[in-house]
Amino acid sequence: MTRLSLEQVIDRVQDVPALPQIVNRVIELTEDPNSTARDIESVIIKDQSLTARVLRLANSAYYGYPRRISTITEATILLGFQTVKSITISAAVKKVLFKKLPGYGMPEGALWKHSQTCAIIARYLGKKFSVKNIDEIYTAALLHDIGKVIMSYYMEENYDQVIKMVQQNNMPFIEAEQQILGFDHCQLGAKMCEKWNLPYALMEPIAYHHDPQRGVENIDSLYITHISDAITMTLGIGLGVDGMAYELYTPALERFGISEEEGIEKIILEISDMISDEQSYDGYHL
Ligand SMILES: [Fe+2]
Ligand SMILES: [Fe+2]
Repeated sequence: MTRLSLEQVIDRVQDVPALPQIVNRVIELTEDPNSTARDIESVIIKDQSLTARVLRLANSAYYGYPRRISTITEATILLGFQTVKSITISAAVKKVLFKKLPGYGMPEGALWKHSQTCAIIARYLGKKFSVKNIDEIYTAALLHDIGKVIMSYYMEENYDQVIKMVQQNNMPFIEAEQQILGFDHCQLGAKMCEKWNLPYALMEPIAYHHDPQRGVENIDSLYITHISDAITMTLGIGLGVDGMAYELYTPALERFGISEEEGIEKIILEISDMISDEQSYDGYHL
């Protein structure tokens, strides 16, 4: 097969779904220090299901609040701009992540479950280690494997060859991606985010989650995404044919003082209730 460049793949795939305009508008507003909760409301109320979601989450996060939170302005003030941004992005990507990925042998919903589990763990770790920008980490972890959505088409075309490579040579799946196409789902994911104009801070965790030593700027998000992905894989959640022994990058663990053996086991124990609770998977976990 002729090799395509990353740009060509992105341009060719008609299927890179466009993110609704509203998402970029919400991102812009939440990143602009001059905007107000009322500005954000004026955009969000144009989308009924997003409005309902933000209100529902505000009410469940502020359970016990003296009265029902009924406006987006109030919800935005209570939840904060960054949380509203995360909710908006996560609502918008659900459809994309929910797809079946034949190139990875993943049924419908599997990548969504994997991504959400990873995001829930990332949020937990972010809080536990008092890291800034927890919302950003949540979103990065949610999107970390987004490149697989497109990669799947190409892996499917070469499925037999890929499986052979992986099985005969004991090759990590990601290496088979590189061999077949010349790039992997991480690079492709980062490109998709660029195309969607998503915040730059999401780029590194998506681009380097299998190769964290390459991180430069957003180290906390990158390392936490990497660790959370490894834990999600260890738990066997949303695995496809690429399920493999995940090599944990030791400096990532060291950064947060996690010991390789007991540290990870302890975290798995701590999160086990959270990830077996279906409610945690209901869109956005606060
Ligand atoms: Fe990945
Ligand atoms: Fe993953």
